[in-house]
Amino acid sequence: MEREKVIEVKNLMASFDGLRVLTDVSFTAYQGEVTVILGSSGCGKSTVLKHLLGLYPINMGYAQVLGQDITALTEKEQKELYLKMGVFYQNGALLNSMTVGENVALPLKQHSLLPDTLITEIVYMKLGLVNMQDAFHMYPSQLSGGMLKRAALARAIVMDPPILFCDEPGAGLDPISLQSLDELIVNLKEQLGMSVILVTHEVSSIMRVANRIVYLEQGRVAFEGSLKQALSSEISSVKQFFSVLYEGDDLRK
Ligand SMILES: Nc1ncnc2c1ncn2[C@@H]1O[C@H](COP(=O)(O)OP(=O)(O)O)[C@@H](O)[C@H]1O
Ligand SMILES: [Mg+2]
Repeated sequence: MEREKVIEVKNLMASFDGLRVLTDVSFTAYQGEVTVILGSSGCGKSTVLKHLLGLYPINMGYAQVLGQDITALTEKEQKELYLKMGVFYQNGALLNSMTVGENVALPLKQHSLLPDTLITEIVYMKLGLVNMQDAFHMYPSQLSGGMLKRAALARAIVMDPPILFCDEPGAGLDPISLQSLDELIVNLKEQLGMSVILVTHEVSSIMRVANRIVYLEQGRVAFEGSLKQALSSEISSVKQFFSVLYEGDDLRK
């Protein structure tokens, strides 16, 4: 059976102030997989996500999300589509003046007509998914870095988006918190069938969560394929990125 495509990008090009950032980016992400977008700092990973999220207009190229051509959406279609796309940013900022529960409830209050009692129930359930039920009445300032990330993740999935975009979600986390965040991402995929587009530099995370790798280099996709294919790729940048794994191995010998 052919796998269902959740994202298809073709020949995406982008420039800022006359400077070309994306020359020709094409890749596919599939339903129920974690697709990791890799590449050195400043190579355009966040720029690709922002185009998919409708934050930057697509002037050159084509992109399809959940079967819809995002370069040709009416305003209404655009709103509906973006509600199906959860986003978890690097600084996953929660509003400090609100409790964790209120923060997570916010998208439901803004975009649904559900009664408050039901919203509270849904928020408890989502906080449960990220092991944060006890933090419902706490304020962001009372949480550790790892807890803040998990609360932000609960907010990103509160509308049950079929696709979740995560831009460097693990940045700044200690290895243990990072591992628990990775496990949550895998759970979302396995238990809820969510498709995840993840930008990360953490090799340990990639080994734990990735199904598919898209490697950006000089404005193009230098490699696209399964994690297994990436690990045995002969493309020098990809090889170099994963070589850390083998160096670590050598140290232990
Ligand atoms: N809105 C913008 N205005 C000007 N330059 C931008 C803008 N967004 C991104 N860029 C530039 O595009 C390049 C890629 O940025 P980014 O996508 O954030 O890289 P990455 O996420 O891979 O680290 C950088 O040189 C950045 O300065
Ligand atoms: Mg970035």
